Amino acid sequence: MSVKVGIIGCGSICEFHLRGYEKADAEIVYVADANETRAKARAAAYDCQWATDYHKLLQDPRMDCVSICLPNHLHREAAEAAIAAGKHVLCEKTMTSNLEDAKALVAAVEAGNSIFQIAYMKRFVPAMQKAKELVPKLGKILSGTVRVYHPFPTANWDRVGGDIWLLNKEKGGAGVMVHSGSHMLDAMRFLCGDPLSVEAKCFFRKGLDYYDTAYFQMEAGHTVFFESGWLDLLSLGVRNNGWDERIELTGEKGRLEVFTMWWTRPDSEVPFVRFYSGEDGETRDIYPPVKDCFVEEVAAFVDSVKQGKQGEPDVYDGYMAQAMIDAAYRSDEEGRRMPIERLARK
Ligand SMILES: NC(=O)c1ccc[n+]([C@@H]2O[C@H](COP(=O)([O-])OP(=O)(O)OC[C@H]3O[C@@H](n4cnc5c(N)ncnc54)[C@H](O)[C@@H]3O)[C@@H](O)[C@H]2O)c1
Repeated sequence: MSVKVGIIGCGSICEFHLRGYEKADAEIVYVADANETRAKARAAAYDCQWATDYHKLLQDPRMDCVSICLPNHLHREAAEAAIAAGKHVLCEKTMTSNLEDAKALVAAVEAGNSIFQIAYMKRFVPAMQKAKELVPKLGKILSGTVRVYHPFPTANWDRVGGDIWLLNKEKGGAGVMVHSGSHMLDAMRFLCGDPLSVEAKCFFRKGLDYYDTAYFQMEAGHTVFFESGWLDLLSLGVRNNGWDERIELTGEKGRLEVFTMWWTRPDSEVPFVRFYSGEDGETRDIYPPVKDCFVEEVAAFVDSVKQGKQGEPDVYDGYMAQAMIDAAYRSDEEGRRMPIERLARK
């Protein structure tokens, strides 16, 4: 039987969720957006019901699950309401816009019966999964570098018009470390485990650009240098198109680099892994088969719902990205290294 879905928030990202649900043979039964025009347009495209108040959607007993595609500061309230209504949740990143809300949401998931997946879809990029498979071949990891550079997403600001919530600290959470950066913080944990503490510097330049640097001290003993920025250097990156995003890990037995793709082009730009093996001194570029990571992410969620088991990345992974961001911004503000509080999985 097909899983029945509601979509809360009909802005830019919902398109990717809808595509995933279609591919997973799920049935879209309801969409909600405070903007009536957007809600109606999606409802017309999917021949489903619509509302401007998402609580109406949540009262509908037909749905098994919802995707929460609202601005970050609204995720907690919507997710808590969905869990209270007995719906499973695929929640967009970042999980919330502050650490307090993230902790509260972890508690709500622990207390409820819902499957909760956080939408860090870069874990589903085949090159990221290949890199994870190769990590043990590096031996003891000595150091890491994570970079997230890309042009300022002007198209987004044009589209959202007056409500540029991404740039508002209360609503968005802060700068580029929160937006594209949080995916790579999650990917960094996916590949080499949890950080214990961070020392960070965040630069807010005139205009709207942000530049963040952070040194994460990892539980395994090595340091990862992380940098993120909206930079209008339009030929940077492995494809010379301005999207310069990668993870590099160096170990006693080799090095791997993962090069990702422009986030909206998961099926046209092919992410790959560059692996240097100390054993034979060779460097190989490995191109896993192309898969759309958004489609894979939604398929994993639908599968978890069908099987009645918590999926991955889960609410604790969502919390950890939030805790890393929170500690980095506090480190910058207070000028000292900050511990990163981890939560025990229940
Ligand atoms: N996974 C990714 O790569 C990725 C990419 C882009 C955005 N996102 C995330 O997706 C989420 C949404 O981002 P977006 O780019 O779609 O934003 P958006 O501004 O395009 O869309 C948000 C929508 O929410 C609606 N909305 C706002 N308040 C509402 C309310 N109270 N009730 C109902 N609807 C309401 C708005 O009208 C708007 O249509 C964010 O959390 C963002 O971080 C993730």
